[in-house]
Amino acid sequence: MYLEYFNFTDEPFKITPDSKYLYLSRQHEEVLQALLYGITQRKGFMAVIGDIGTGKTTISRALLNRLDKSIDTSIILNPMLSVQELLEAINDDFGNAAATRDTVKGQIDALNEFMLRRLRFNKNAIVMIDEAQHLSVESMEMLRLLSNLETEDKKLMQIIFLGQKELETKLKSPELRQLDQRIGIRYFLGPLNYTETCNYIVHRITMAGGGGGSIQLEERGLRKIFEYSKGVPRRVNMICDRSLLEAFAQRSKLVTSGIVKAAIRDIEGLSNPSGVAFSGRKKVWEFWKWF
Ligand SMILES: Nc1ncnc2c1ncn2[C@@H]1O[C@H](COP(=O)(O)OP(=O)(O)OP(=O)(O)O)[C@@H](O)[C@H]1O
Ligand SMILES: [Mg+2]
Repeated sequence: MYLEYFNFTDEPFKITPDSKYLYLSRQHEEVLQALLYGITQRKGFMAVIGDIGTGKTTISRALLNRLDKSIDTSIILNPMLSVQELLEAINDDFGNAAATRDTVKGQIDALNEFMLRRLRFNKNAIVMIDEAQHLSVESMEMLRLLSNLETEDKKLMQIIFLGQKELETKLKSPELRQLDQRIGIRYFLGPLNYTETCNYIVHRITMAGGGGGSIQLEERGLRKIFEYSKGVPRRVNMICDRSLLEAFAQRSKLVTSGIVKAAIRDIEGLSNPSGVAFSGRKKVWEFWKWF
């Protein structure tokens, strides 16, 4: 593997969300701040909507790391649940042994009692729903009714939806208009721009222990990565991982646009012609020069 060749202590471009590699672009920082604000101000519903692979789940992890540990949190990763299952999952996460577990009403009552008990201590509670585009209309309606539990100016429970663009379409449907109107904070997460993409790549390489001048990134190679990935972090990871593998196969410490092109061909499953066409080496970003 290329890890040793480039002096990495860890895989730099894994495609699993890992807080160690968190890179805060302007948008990622803004969305985190917006959610933290919404939580402390008890805004009720919040939504983070973005294209596939732009960092929504990563942001949810980062948010959890920044939250006061005394806040009750429920994280729903797979919301393709019935209303009853969703309520059970929330009660379970809150550690709330619901009195009547076998009916929707029993679950709702138990959750409301729990929230009121927490209110006495001025405690906040958060339900974070990832992949929220998969929530059923019934579940969304149930969440809206749950959030009716409030004091004069504060919601007892903050509900954060993280989802792909279909979530926005769903929220705009006539049957969810009431819920849509209650979303106090809504953030659209887009891809990284070119400079951010470069900084993101350098950040991951650094965090994985690579560096010391062992990797050089040709500017035209970086541009190719950006062009292909369109600044979507998951795609950047895929293409960078392949490019490093390709560079290793070529025993080249310089990632050229030719190497990136070969990596793209690999990803797309096209036949890989023998030999990598090395393009001009006029502009080379040496890794340490980024700092
Ligand atoms: N801000 C970031 N810092 C570091 N890595 C990131 C960041 N954003 C995204 N990534 C990387 O991109 C990958 C995809 O991100 P993530 O899973 O958070 O996207 P997503 O928006 O939840 O995607 P999906 O729409 O498929 O659920 C992550 O596994 C992570 O490796
Ligand atoms: Mg996700």
